[in-house]
Amino acid sequence: MLLQMPTSLFYLVETSMERTLLIIKPDAVAQNGIGKIIKRLEGKGFKVIELQKIHLTRTQATEFYVVHKERPFYNDLLDFMTSGPAVPMVLERENAVAYLREVIGSTNPEEAEVGTIRKDFGSDIQNNAVHASDSPENGRNEVAFFFGEKALS
Ligand code: CMP
Repeated sequence: MLLQMPTSLFYLVETSMERTLLIIKPDAVAQNGIGKIIKRLEGKGFKVIELQKIHLTRTQATEFYVVHKERPFYNDLLDFMTSGPAVPMVLERENAVAYLREVIGSTNPEEAEVGTIRKDFGSDIQNNAVHASDSPENGRNEVAFFFGEKALS
């Protein structure tokens, strides 16, 4: 961004664009939520860089959520994520990872703030409409998982 300062000197202000992964989950896809959720994201300044509609295999879901493998909800989560098509996408924006977590709201839609995606499109802690990467490192790993290294920059 180029700013003109009062002294008439020009300064280059570095902006840090970042990419992250969002998945529109099978519950939201089944409710015709794809367009509405993307409109919400674009309205918040996110640019859709890559997008696909896929029906996850059990193997893909197992690998993607491996961090939760010891959790009691793991098998139900795999059943849910393989129950119908989902829409993973790469989103770009300044401060994308942290800001997207704000925009989607708490994991449990009942606890999510008014105006967040999970509040408006989710039904319960499992059927919570969307997934978003929770750290820059996971963002890079999750983008690469669905779209390959080429989608990282
Ligand atoms: P997500 O952000 O995709 O990360 C893990 C998912 O597991 C979560 O959203 C929910 O869909 C699901 N889940 C089901 N039960 C729970 C729970 N008790 N705590 C956290 N996540 C849960």
